[in-house]
Amino acid sequence: MKDLVFATHNAHKLEELRAILKDFNILGLNDINCHEEIVEDADTLDGNAKIKANFVTDNFHIDCFADDTGLEVDALDGAPGVYSARYAGEGCSYQDNVNKLLEALKGIENRKARFRTVIALNLNGKQYLFEGKVEGVITKEQHGEKGFGYDPIFLPDGFDQTFAEMPMEVKNKISHRGRATQKLIEFLMSL
Ligand code: IMP
Repeated sequence: MKDLVFATHNAHKLEELRAILKDFNILGLNDINCHEEIVEDADTLDGNAKIKANFVTDNFHIDCFADDTGLEVDALDGAPGVYSARYAGEGCSYQDNVNKLLEALKGIENRKARFRTVIALNLNGKQYLFEGKVEGVITKEQHGEKGFGYDPIFLPDGFDQTFAEMPMEVKNKISHRGRATQKLIEFLMSL
């Protein structure tokens, strides 16, 4: 079975992929003793996904994929985008980010936004990119307790529940990360 590293320390993401990609031996960063912080300093999602995947391939000489996600708000010219994790500053909480975004959109009627995930895969000396996105709007108030990040204020188009109100299985089917991961899986299964 072929080893493939998923450049993440997130045990939940690893477990999810291991259950689906049964033909690959999916390893996390901890499994290859990569404990360094990989500096994600690109100004695009593609750039950061590539940095993470290339770091592993260059230093550990093993095939790898990595993901990066951002929330792009039209009225804010695509912000917070690649800076979504630290929108309210270094070390900020998810709630700080939500508060800052609601404040930035106060009085603004155009609340269109999308989550976008890019996955970079380094396999057998080649690099492949997969993208998933979900369109929606930023609500005026928070709704729901599930999920994480901006979930309580993201209402996907065609639904009447925010990501934080819907069951995880429903979110995973339509989400940015779910869709990008599905493309990666279809590609790997077709090999
Ligand atoms: P990452 O690239 O997956 O680490 O995501 C960067 C940031 O985007 C996270 O810190 C969250 O603030 C936000 N984010 C990513 N995915 C989601 C999601 O599914 N729901 C809500 N926020 C998310």
